[in-house]
Amino acid sequence: MRILLTGKNGQLGQCFQDVVEGTEVELFAFDSTELNITSAEQIDQVINRIKPDVIVNAAAYTAVDKAESDTEVAYLVNATGPSLLAEQAAKLDIPLIHISTDYVFDGEAVEPYKSSDVTNPQGVYGASKLAGEELVTATCDKYIILRTAWVFSEYGNNFVKTMLRLGKERDSLGVVADQYGSPTYAGDIAKAILTLCLNYHSNGVLAWGIYHFAGDMPTSWHGFTRAIFYKAQQHGVLLEQPKLAAISSEQYPTPAKRPAFSVFDTEEIRDLEISSSPWLRGLDKVLSRL
Ligand SMILES: NC(=O)c1ccc[n+]([C@@H]2O[C@H](COP(=O)([O-])OP(=O)(O)OC[C@H]3O[C@@H](n4cnc5c(N)ncnc54)[C@H](OP(=O)(O)O)[C@@H]3O)[C@@H](O)[C@H]2O)c1
Repeated sequence: MRILLTGKNGQLGQCFQDVVEGTEVELFAFDSTELNITSAEQIDQVINRIKPDVIVNAAAYTAVDKAESDTEVAYLVNATGPSLLAEQAAKLDIPLIHISTDYVFDGEAVEPYKSSDVTNPQGVYGASKLAGEELVTATCDKYIILRTAWVFSEYGNNFVKTMLRLGKERDSLGVVADQYGSPTYAGDIAKAILTLCLNYHSNGVLAWGIYHFAGDMPTSWHGFTRAIFYKAQQHGVLLEQPKLAAISSEQYPTPAKRPAFSVFDTEEIRDLEISSSPWLRGLDKVLSRL
């Protein structure tokens, strides 16, 4: 099976290359210079050359706060890009596996979000990702949109790495305790995508649609940080854990508003025999690789 991967240098892009290694998959991975997903011409050329069986789109504009002032680029990468990939998927009658986010929701729910729940993004990033979802679903039939959340890995920049840096620099810090979500290890998202690709390869079909995939234990950013510091000390990455205070979102204003509650109901993807990301184990992997 030939898989075309976009965004190969991102967290998910790198983890996907790792999980594919040693499998039967022939992977053709591209960074943003080799394949800019906003260029119809470049996409056309690469796809005609590679002739993939599946397209996996790990490319995205992920700078949530910067997107508030960089709206045009955010929409170009998160909406136009996926729609151009979807056009090619439709033309070749192949699946597009596209990734989206918990930030398509407003966070006002009191129960975990199902994929069919009403969306209402609070910022440009979430709105651009939602526009991407809508264009993909309108353009091709064979798509899986995997919404995920709070992604971390050993690669790139992410919350875990930021907290480890702050933990080394400071004796104490305050972290937001009134936003709840599910940390998700990018290696587990990569494995879930590979499972989907292999199932498609064996059966020639998948239950197309939008799915939620995230970590198995919801927490707050404060709770996540506590776990990061505890495990970092166990792994010898931090000699001492700094004092950790719980603060409110109001005490930590950001340009983009985040959902207060973005926990996912992951039942639908579990029906496809893909279990939630055991994120504490993911954290162990990351800490052992840093
Ligand atoms: N990170 C999170 O917490 C989070 C949460 C929920 C959902 N998600 C979603 O999960 C997916 C993967 O996220 P991630 O954390 O792996 O992202 P990431 O680490 O920021 O990587 C994104 C990649 O996309 C590439 N890219 C940007 N513009 C591009 C373009 N025009 N053409 C081709 N490639 C381009 C970037 O390449 P350059 O560096 O060369 O620009 C980068 O390597 C995304 O769809 C994201 O929206 C992420």
